[in-house]
Amino acid sequence: MLKLNFNPFPTLETERIILRKISLKDAPALFTIRANPDVMKYIAKPVAKEISEVKSLINKILYGIKSNNSITWGIVMRNQKNIIGTVSFHNIEKPHFRAEIGYHIHPNFWNKGILSEVLPSIIDYGFNKMNLYSIEAKIDPENINSKKLLLKNNFIKEAYYKGNYFFNEQFLDTEVYSLLKPNQISSSRKSDFRDLLS
Ligand SMILES: CC(C)(COP(=O)(O)OP(=O)(O)OC[C@H]1O[C@@H](n2cnc3c(N)ncnc32)[C@H](O)[C@@H]1OP(=O)(O)O)[C@@H](O)C(=O)NCCC(=O)NCCS
Repeated sequence: MLKLNFNPFPTLETERIILRKISLKDAPALFTIRANPDVMKYIAKPVAKEISEVKSLINKILYGIKSNNSITWGIVMRNQKNIIGTVSFHNIEKPHFRAEIGYHIHPNFWNKGILSEVLPSIIDYGFNKMNLYSIEAKIDPENINSKKLLLKNNFIKEAYYKGNYFFNEQFLDTEVYSLLKPNQISSSRKSDFRDLLS
């Protein structure tokens, strides 16, 4: 069984970005992201209409961290204060050492390599600090940018579910991508993983 501890919160850093804990002070910035229909186009969740919805989401995120059941980082450019997006591990299946990864950023920051820079650190944290064995991503098959990002990070397409998700009066398809720890680490370190499973 996977044992997780997100307290103290693990702040991570990359060249241009700091990945930090979010708080209710981030509600206005997160609202500009969750209220944007372009961001939510391929995310089967309602577009936010009220800031109170985003505050509830932040409280849910904070509870997930406190209870060691999920983790979400706010994405902040080093020279800025406000979050420009989030990246998370949620739907964590502790008995199976598996978690789902999710991410979104404001369109002003799309196509600047932000997620390409962030994802390797998050994946490294997932495998080497959380001890995950596998990471999955569930995406809308039309979400080309997300697909490119996952393929660049060695995820492979594992499944295509037809009409498995009912949202906004429609049955939506889902593609599942996954990455296994043994496919991420060098073969010389595979023995470390056998220790984890024993
Ligand atoms: C998916 C998303 C997180 C990608 O983040 P990003 O920081 O823009 O990604 P990157 O800049 O690192 O680019 C990743 C790939 O997508 C491509 N891409 C990203 N934005 C693009 C755009 N607006 N137009 C064309 N290509 C784009 C990049 O070219 C890159 O592919 P490449 O390396 O083959 O050139 C971002 O587009 C987003 O937040 N989308 C809305 C929310 C969402 O769909 N989340 C995922 C749900 S599964």
